[in-house]
Amino acid sequence: MNDTHKVYIETYGCQMNLSDTEIVSSIIKKSGLNLTEKPDDADVILLNTCSVRDNAERKIHERLIHLKQYKKKNKELVVGILGCMAERMRNKLIEEKKIVDLVVGPDEYRKVPSLIENAFTGEKGIAVKLSRVETYDDIEPLRTEGIFAWVSIMRGCDKFCTYCVVPFTRGRERSRPLRSIVNELEKLYNNGFREVTLLGQNVNSYKDTDGGFDFPDLLRESAKAVPNMRIRYTTSHPYDMSDKLIETMAEYKNICKYIHLPVQSGSDRILKLMNRNYSVEHYLGRIRKIRELMPECSLSTDIISGFPTETEEEHKQTLDLMKEVQYDGAYMFKYSARDNTKAYSMEDDVPDEVKTRRLQEIIDLQNNISRELNRLEIGKQHEILVEGPSKKNSEKWQGRTDTNKVLIFEKNGHIINTGDLIKVVVKSSTSATLFGEIL
Ligand code: SAH
Ligand code: SF4
Ligand code: F3S
Repeated sequence: MNDTHKVYIETYGCQMNLSDTEIVSSIIKKSGLNLTEKPDDADVILLNTCSVRDNAERKIHERLIHLKQYKKKNKELVVGILGCMAERMRNKLIEEKKIVDLVVGPDEYRKVPSLIENAFTGEKGIAVKLSRVETYDDIEPLRTEGIFAWVSIMRGCDKFCTYCVVPFTRGRERSRPLRSIVNELEKLYNNGFREVTLLGQNVNSYKDTDGGFDFPDLLRESAKAVPNMRIRYTTSHPYDMSDKLIETMAEYKNICKYIHLPVQSGSDRILKLMNRNYSVEHYLGRIRKIRELMPECSLSTDIISGFPTETEEEHKQTLDLMKEVQYDGAYMFKYSARDNTKAYSMEDDVPDEVKTRRLQEIIDLQNNISRELNRLEIGKQHEILVEGPSKKNSEKWQGRTDTNKVLIFEKNGHIINTGDLIKVVVKSSTSATLFGEIL
């Protein structure tokens, strides 16, 4: 292979995609190709795409139109689509978009180098088979330097929420062996990483079948193996939020006291239509257990507004649930009908302006709750992991609390480095940020 060829990868979508880009980068580098950070220098441009909502795909269509200019300048340029949209659209992408040379789904990334090679000889290629076993367990992701690392522990999703494309784009659930994950964490710690996020669409249904380990077992073994590393995880499903998991989190100091627990709706009828497999009561029971064992734990969620047939009353139930739980943060979306999903065959009958208005009410409520909860932080002490100069104001530095809140502080002559754990006291706050002083 021509080892002067340079590949540029652009990543969209969730953390799984960010993590997959590190895996693809590693595969590409091993094959002898080079990577570049600049699209203008590239001989190959790959987009790692997301399909979760219509606007995620629209972004990619727009980007492809823009990339036509690059191809005009460089006729040899190879353009590829990776990720969930590749899996969902398959050969349609090659047929409808002349500019696209290769299409590779999430379980076929080992083929990326050979498909690139073929593309240089003018042969378009597609690889979109889903696998029951592929976890890329043997591939060491090519991580950018720093103190944070993503560690993918499982792939796929078997939950089949009726609105969601993920089970179709990422296939069946499968997990990496516990031992291999724990070894990777030890290595990361020795290489200077200080915080890891264990990743999967549903980490709490993780299962190492050969070893007989579940997700709490993995968390416990990880916490013990790297006691000075902060450990986070995402995403968890309320159905699999077991007592054992909550107890394990409470037991180890280095397991961060933060849980992202998507609720989606506050109405039992809508939850049923979504095939979420829990009731509001079950969900609140999980929250009570979390609060009982970890009063300091922060919580965030995902909410969808305007699912088919959602009434005004059911929307209010969502607002009521948010008031009751008091989430520290939330990711909030308008329902977007996705081809092939079960909900697609239900009529998308909530008018767009109603979805938008309900979404705005959800966002406004959440902002108020976040502001109030952050106001209650004033005067509290936290240990933060120092991330480096603040993105907005380089005079200041920023770190993150164990509860996943960003805290801005001044160094005031202290010698502080990225990766240090320091004690601070909160002096003021907004809905998104805490401001503090070093103790
Ligand atoms: N596996 C994770 C993340 C799934 S995608 C989980 O189950 O929590 C992230 C979020 O996108 C979902 O939680 C949901 O709130 C939202 N989402 C998924 N499909 C959607 C759709 N068709 N329309 C609107 N939001 C959607
Ligand atoms: Fe999608 Fe539901 Fe699976 Fe999450 S749990 S990825 S929302 S099907
Ligand atoms: Fe998007 Fe696929 Fe992630 S659809 S949210 S990139 S799993």
